[in-house]
Amino acid sequence: MTDFRGRTALVTGASSGIGAALAEALAGRGADLVLTAPDQTRLRAVADRIRLLHGVDVAVIPADLSEESGPDDLVERVLADGHQIDVLINNAGFGTRGRYDELAAERDHREVMLNAVAVERLTHLLLPAMVERGRGTLINVSSTSGFQAVPYMAVYGASKAFVLSFSIALWAEYRSRGIQVLALCPGPTDTSFFDALGSTMSAGGRLRTTEEVVTSAFRALDRGQPYVIDGRLNYLTSNASRLLRRGFVAGITARVLGPQTGHA
Ligand SMILES: NC(=O)c1ccc[n+]([C@@H]2O[C@H](COP(=O)([O-])OP(=O)(O)OC[C@H]3O[C@@H](n4cnc5c(N)ncnc54)[C@H](OP(=O)(O)O)[C@@H]3O)[C@@H](O)[C@H]2O)c1
Repeated sequence: MTDFRGRTALVTGASSGIGAALAEALAGRGADLVLTAPDQTRLRAVADRIRLLHGVDVAVIPADLSEESGPDDLVERVLADGHQIDVLINNAGFGTRGRYDELAAERDHREVMLNAVAVERLTHLLLPAMVERGRGTLINVSSTSGFQAVPYMAVYGASKAFVLSFSIALWAEYRSRGIQVLALCPGPTDTSFFDALGSTMSAGGRLRTTEEVVTSAFRALDRGQPYVIDGRLNYLTSNASRLLRRGFVAGITARVLGPQTGHA
């Protein structure tokens, strides 16, 4: 089991859901934390709870990572406050759902900036020092959506495919240099993600809990895996989609997620 005592983790999107759960699990393994998200009030509530439960140092730095300068401004502030980041959790993200031409271009742009561009930029800003120290951990939150094209959530699926491919490539580059890299791929999980989608979509079936996702993540990290799909059913469906023709899978998904079906 990886021991995080004496290490500091930067967790993006730490104000709720999977990010808050990952932050809490890291604190349980002894890590000090720097938590970030746009909503300062929610962030402080998470920080207070973790401090109380685990007695670790928890700093809070609000930031909007969908802004062009968001990642650079955040890291500047982190370093100016004297934190050395040993663990980076790129978790912040949101989805949009609907017919592509009907979605707001500005929101789709922010989605790419947050889900993909900020992940790459924060990694560039923080990974080299980990490599120099010969020790570090990077967890990037992708999704089961990263394994296939997702009609009616086209930008989301593409952004998560970027995260998955990017992370596995870095895993192979850095595994012999003391750096753990993991792409965490949850399926539908019980968080406010579906509220933020801006549609009436619900996942259908049982939602996974954030605790289950975190357990999968740390088990995979301890085993040195490049990626993990949380949940047996998600594992089976994600891998099945890889065996079939991409167009066929996209066609089925379009029928399931298409607005005309009213399916959740
Ligand atoms: N839940 C699922 O079914 C599911 C499945 C697969 C993958 N994921 C991925 O898991 C990750 C976490 O999502 P979640 O399910 O935990 O949803 P969530 O509860 O809605 O959490 C999203 C987090 O991202 C933050 N965030 C939103 N916009 C941001 C911005 N512009 N800049 C910085 N941070 C921002 C939110 O901060 P505020 O509180 O300030 O808004 C919040 O902390 C995402 O990358 C998501 O794509 C989720």
